[in-house]
Amino acid sequence: MAVGIFDSGLGGLTVLDAVAKRLPDVPLVYYGDSAHAPYGVRTPDDIYDLTTKATQRLFDAGCDLVILACNTASAAALRRMQEGWVPEGKRVLGVFVPLIEALTERQWGDNSPPREVNAKHVALFATPATVSSRAFQRELAFRAIGVDVEAQACGGVVDAIEDGDMILAEALVRSHVDALRRKMPDPDAAVLGCTHYPLMEKEFQAALGPDVKVFSQANLVAESLADYLDRRPEMIGPGTQSVFLTSGDPGQVSSRATQFLRRQITFDAA
Ligand code: DGL
Repeated sequence: MAVGIFDSGLGGLTVLDAVAKRLPDVPLVYYGDSAHAPYGVRTPDDIYDLTTKATQRLFDAGCDLVILACNTASAAALRRMQEGWVPEGKRVLGVFVPLIEALTERQWGDNSPPREVNAKHVALFATPATVSSRAFQRELAFRAIGVDVEAQACGGVVDAIEDGDMILAEALVRSHVDALRRKMPDPDAAVLGCTHYPLMEKEFQAALGPDVKVFSQANLVAESLADYLDRRPEMIGPGTQSVFLTSGDPGQVSSRATQFLRRQITFDAA
């Protein structure tokens, strides 16, 4: 029926928004698992179980293609899902690769050997589960050499955003950037490796200063999805309407989503 977009909660709306702008004719089904957010403090098995359940819900809603618009799920569950769980005729894609291709100045699907790139000192801001998976460093090592990565687990930021407490989220961003700088005083690039963080992108950029190039995923993922659907148009499937599903309280989630995207978003119970 449509392309599915999954996140543990509201963060994937940053990806949904960019996709809806880039591909206005593609119907989307968004599933935010707000009842179980944040994923970033859960174990890999737990993240795998929750992510497969949510993805199945999106398959049941008629989606043949599901984007895990959640770095934590992409880092902790995607490979295992692709290796033994995704049914015939369905596809599940993550959000790491488009970001790493941009950081390493590569075109889609360029599988040439790793090479030197402009970014030498990269700060990665992500959830504790994403940081401990080391998935970012692994994907990067396939494509680039000589890049020093310092990862900062940003505890608390996702909870604050899900709770709508943007003052707390901003204070936490500043303290995580300070902690990163104690380990890497002069990063030349910073990766916002959690789909919730673009909601705080201005605050990250302000704390990092103007000399640090901040990579944020939403537009990169939208561009790479557009490219993928050009090559595999059958994955769009029929359907006309976008739908928003949540495992949380639909009224509360709708009002936060409307506040974040500055347009009316109405969630239904999943
Ligand atoms: N927004 C998700 C991510 O990209 C998940 C955050 C969470 O649930 O902890 O990592």
